[in-house]
Amino acid sequence: MMNSIRNQFPILKTRVRSLPRRGGAKSLVYFDNAATTQKPEIVLRAMDKFYRSKNAPVHRGVYTLAEAATAAYENVRDQVRDFIHAAHREEIIFTAGATASINAVVAGYVETSLHRGDHILLTDMEHHAMIVPWQAAAERKGLEVDFVPLTSDGRVDIGVFKKALAKYRPKFVGITHVSNVLGTVNPVREMIAAAHKIGAIVLIDAAQSAAHLPIDVQKLSCDFLVFSGHKLYGPTGVGVLYGRKELLERLPPFIFGGHMIEEVTREKTTYAPLPAKFEGGTQPVAEVVGLGAAISFVQGVGFNAIQKHECELSAHMLKGLKVISGLTLLGPATTQGRIPVFSFTISGIHSHDVATLLDREGIAVRAGHHCAQILHSNLSPDASVRMSLGVYNTVGEIDRTIAALHKIQEKFYA
Ligand SMILES: Cc1ncc(COP(=O)(O)O)c(C=O)c1O
Repeated sequence: MMNSIRNQFPILKTRVRSLPRRGGAKSLVYFDNAATTQKPEIVLRAMDKFYRSKNAPVHRGVYTLAEAATAAYENVRDQVRDFIHAAHREEIIFTAGATASINAVVAGYVETSLHRGDHILLTDMEHHAMIVPWQAAAERKGLEVDFVPLTSDGRVDIGVFKKALAKYRPKFVGITHVSNVLGTVNPVREMIAAAHKIGAIVLIDAAQSAAHLPIDVQKLSCDFLVFSGHKLYGPTGVGVLYGRKELLERLPPFIFGGHMIEEVTREKTTYAPLPAKFEGGTQPVAEVVGLGAAISFVQGVGFNAIQKHECELSAHMLKGLKVISGLTLLGPATTQGRIPVFSFTISGIHSHDVATLLDREGIAVRAGHHCAQILHSNLSPDASVRMSLGVYNTVGEIDRTIAALHKIQEKFYA
């Protein structure tokens, strides 16, 4: 199965680092999937085909081509609804990505429902995309942003979370489904239930989970959920904001302009019903079509197969990392309750050096704080190296990486 999946991703055939002194070109090992994933042929072809045969403005034309473009766009809304098991298609809003979706929810809530002194509860594990919009809003509106501390191995303890709920009585809770640094899956269902008990609204950041775990917004009972297309084997520039219908109906629009209106007069504007209310301006139609193809790709492989494969990758990676001396893995070293994202430091070697030396072997990893400075300040003094794997990665690529890490470690300690 693995070869048939890999063959669908043309970029994985790339050879990099063609320096003759260093042994010539190396086949690419792409381990930066938490930042962005590569795109399968089905996505590339869908977008190409859209531009070649269906491109026209959506929702606005009565001619055949415009109707075809609108149908292509709106079909993806149904696909996303099915993908995350939303109750209604109008609960699916297309945005520019997870960051744009979070910003939209924050802006709407701050404007309509939050008042000076209200508390917002986040965890120490959040990506900056969740922290920064709330902090900026808090400054403007006089809100308090509180953080749930993590356990020493980087988990959210449900007991600690419940205590924070009782202490701060937040109006709004923002939780990442999966950590983009540690790969750990949070107990979001329990967390949502606990937050609802005190009347808080909950936003789930599914940017890191959407490509790895099935999502059912009704079973989770979340109020809002966001993700990006480009971390799900789809294109950049498109993402999803899911919101419960009654909440979206109360939320004000965040982009004002064409398409999102019902009527405009000199005196005032009334807004279109959902979902148009949130989709002002010309939408990224080809990207939405690409997102639909990406969802078809993921559903074609199936989450059972994805999880089985990724669990094998995690077990192999953890075994390999364990024997590299001086290496500290951030977060828990378990195969269960995680996606294949691994961040680590090697004592005495700066993480940026590790990443640069891995690149010389053709291995693409990330070094830095991974847009999670609060998490990093808890777990590691400065940067870490992150290796994030996806459905097309192999045990052979892990072996190559572990061998390269041994070489780096020996070189620095020689
Ligand atoms: C957990 C998490 N949330 C949000 C984001 C933001 O996603 P985007 O940059 O696609 O808007 C990321 C991206 O790395 C992420 O990892």
